[in-house]
Amino acid sequence: MKLHALVVFWLLLLRCCLVPTNAALATEPSLYAPEDNVKILNNDTLEMELYSSNNCKLVQFINYFCGDCRRFAATFKQLAWKLYGWRTVLSIFVVDCAQERNVQICRDFDIQKTPTLRIFPPDFQRTEKQVGFDLDTLVPDAIFAKLAEYISKVKYTMLGQPDFKPVKATDIIQPLLQKLGCFNSSAINFTVLVYQPEGSTIGRDTILGLLIWPMVNVRILSDRRLFRYFVLSPTNSTLALMDCVGNAKALQPLNDTSASYVACVGNYIHSLGYALPLLPTNPAPNITNYLIDEEQAAILSTVLQGRSKVYRADLEQAIDQLIHIELPKVRIFKGDNMMALRQFLNVLCLFSPLNVSGKLLLQRLYEFVNGSTSGELTGMAFQAQVQLLEGMQPKVFKARRYVGCIASGPFLRGFTCSLWTLFHYFTVQASKSLILPAGFVLGTVHGFVKHFFGCRDCVQHFMGMSERRKIFSVASRDEEILWLWEAHNEVNQRLEGDITEDPKFPKVQFPTLSVCGNCQINSLHNTTWQRPQVLSFLKELYDGRNLSNYGLPTTNGYN
Ligand SMILES: Cc1cc2nc3c(=O)[nH]c(=O)nc-3n(C[C@H](O)[C@H](O)[C@H](O)COP(=O)(O)OP(=O)(O)OC[C@H]3O[C@@H](n4cnc5c(N)ncnc54)[C@H](O)[C@@H]3O)c2cc1C
Ligand SMILES: *[C@@H]1O[C@H](CO)[C@@H](O)[C@H](O)[C@H]1NC(C)=O
Ligand SMILES: *[C@@H]1O[C@H](CO)[C@@H](O)[C@H](O)[C@H]1NC(C)=O
Ligand SMILES: *[C@@H]1O[C@H](CO)[C@@H](O)[C@H](O)[C@H]1NC(C)=O
Ligand SMILES: *[C@@H]1O[C@H](CO)[C@@H](O)[C@H](O)[C@H]1NC(C)=O
Ligand SMILES: *[C@@H]1O[C@H](CO)[C@@H](O)[C@H](O)[C@H]1NC(C)=O
Ligand SMILES: *[C@@H]1O[C@H](CO)[C@@H](O)[C@H](O)[C@H]1NC(C)=O
Ligand SMILES: *[C@@H]1O[C@H](CO)[C@@H](O)[C@H](O)[C@H]1NC(C)=O
Ligand SMILES: *[C@@H]1O[C@H](CO)[C@@H](O)[C@H](O)[C@H]1NC(C)=O
Ligand SMILES: *[C@@H]1O[C@H](CO)[C@@H](O)[C@H](O)[C@H]1NC(C)=O
Ligand SMILES: *[C@@H]1O[C@H](CO)[C@@H](O)[C@H](O)[C@H]1NC(C)=O
Repeated sequence: MKLHALVVFWLLLLRCCLVPTNAALATEPSLYAPEDNVKILNNDTLEMELYSSNNCKLVQFINYFCGDCRRFAATFKQLAWKLYGWRTVLSIFVVDCAQERNVQICRDFDIQKTPTLRIFPPDFQRTEKQVGFDLDTLVPDAIFAKLAEYISKVKYTMLGQPDFKPVKATDIIQPLLQKLGCFNSSAINFTVLVYQPEGSTIGRDTILGLLIWPMVNVRILSDRRLFRYFVLSPTNSTLALMDCVGNAKALQPLNDTSASYVACVGNYIHSLGYALPLLPTNPAPNITNYLIDEEQAAILSTVLQGRSKVYRADLEQAIDQLIHIELPKVRIFKGDNMMALRQFLNVLCLFSPLNVSGKLLLQRLYEFVNGSTSGELTGMAFQAQVQLLEGMQPKVFKARRYVGCIASGPFLRGFTCSLWTLFHYFTVQASKSLILPAGFVLGTVHGFVKHFFGCRDCVQHFMGMSERRKIFSVASRDEEILWLWEAHNEVNQRLEGDITEDPKFPKVQFPTLSVCGNCQINSLHNTTWQRPQVLSFLKELYDGRNLSNYGLPTTNGYN
């Protein structure tokens, strides 16, 4: 690094260490904005919001670093935009489980894989067992259908909120207008009566569709004979509109669909001079401003110019995020996931790229987990232990910056990149140390992904790939290195051209010819990998002695 760049680097570093919380908050990545009809919640606001208002809540739990969360964002925005009309009964929120402050709530709500869509009733209070209702789908039409069903089963208490229960004959005998929603104090001018035959949801869907008209109240008649009370014909009425004085008028929709009913009522009301409801016409623009400060710019240009390198800073970032965020989010370690945790910490301790303090921290943590005699450990106890151990020695994790995994745009690279780097590094260290039996590291990676990797899509793909590529049959340490290399290339190929691809770091079959000239032989339509050459290339690249300390908070790294 040039001297000037170094000075700037240090100044910026100093600034960022002096105001760590504000800086962290200001740069917290967010895929959504309030203009999307989506509010971002966190550990301070989620439970309060769920408990305090009289409508249902749809909460999407995400990990911003997951490709599937990013890919789903555009769909979710469209959905939220369409659901704007339902805002008297449904509020929409997002919680990012990749933020350290949200570890506890994401654990409390038992969020294992993201994106997770949960629906909550009004005045919701979480308990050990009650953590909301999973929608179990990311398909917009299916989400709509499930929301409609859920929302219509709730009894609402506020003025201006709908009543999904059909009108009963006994209701009619009582003071009719008041029962049906023409209150002196309310701004409701009309009550719409919809006939809903047995087994149909047309009334329910008409209520939802007409929520955009605040002056309209809709009631369902499940018994046609009730139309008589409104001086309407029970034999041919399906839809009618009544004013506050009690005059009812039959309406004639084009067909018996809720869309047609909603259009028919809307047109009629509009014809009476009521203004069309104001709805957002477009989702909020995507977040495009991505601030690259001078330090990042310096890192970016250095990384892009240099040869392929593995940076200690990325490994540190991966471990930092793992022990502070990803692992403590687990509700309980027990059985298979306890085994996975032990193996992972074992490998981490053996090959930790950290200095003496960092190694000690991981060693103590491993001993703590390994020593749990009941074979069970809560995520909360794990988190507390990390804090306790960290309080006992110099601060280990200081970098807070990705280097080789730096991104040139928002929501790209970072954590998942550092995880791959860490895994490759493990396989190479294992092949050189000979401490662990062949296959142990891949088994550990498999266990980690299966139990602790929060990205739903990635886990599914990786599990499928592991089976197809027979991860548990790998018989030598060198083959472990190559297995992971090929698996990673398969993922690269699938993600080529995806919106999660950083244009400055395109998805390529690795290593490219320019990085390793003798790793592949190319004919016109055919690349043949030279596996022995690839193996020695990877063994040099990911060797612990070849890690670069560039970008770490001390000029000579850790020691
Ligand atoms: C186990 C796992 C599974 C994933 N599955 C998915 C998924 O299904 N869908 C999805 O959208 N995202 C998935 N991801 C994330 C995705 O693979 C990338 O990590 C992310 O898109 C960021 O990409 P990147 O450009 O930073 O490079 P990454 O692919 O993260 O690679 C990091 C670095 O490793 C080096 N490298 C690249 N290829 C190889 C190789 N073959 N061998 C050795 N080194 C290599 C390069 O230096 C590269 O910069 C997964 C991540 C992991 C860890
Ligand atoms: C939320 O997390 C922050 C940071 O970890 C912490 O300071 C705050 O007390 C937490 N709030 C609640 C309600 O737990
Ligand atoms: C509603 O209005 C009627 C007459 O307009 C009046 O007699 C009645 O007291 C009002 N009710 C309330 C609750 O204000
Ligand atoms: C609709 O209701 C509001 C509030 O009760 C009232 O002020 C308004 O005059 C009504 N409009 C019509 C056309 O009846
Ligand atoms: C229902 O039938 C009556 C006569 O029986 C007719 O006047 C009215 O227009 C019809 N209404 C609808 C909605 O078809
Ligand atoms: C019903 O009518 C609406 C217009 O009100 C139209 O958009 C829709 O296509 C019709 N559906 C059927 C099944 O005819
Ligand atoms: C936002 O980005 C998505 C893809 O990520 C794209 O499909 C959509 O058109 C973009 N929207 C706007 C308003 O730019
Ligand atoms: C882990 O626990 C086993 C017994 O449960 C013990 O033999 C082993 O030494 C422990 N390892 C570490 C690193 O603590
Ligand atoms: C290890 O590195 C961290 C972070 O740079 C530093 O705070 C700590 O003092 C170092 N410990 C030792 C023993 O060098
Ligand atoms: C690619 O080349 C290799 C050897 O160079 C050969 O064995 C293989 O059949 C070729 N594949 C195709 C699709 O041409
Ligand atoms: C480190 O990298 C250099 C250059 O790629 C290589 O010559 C050397 O063998 C590597 N060191 C180890 C220990 O692999």
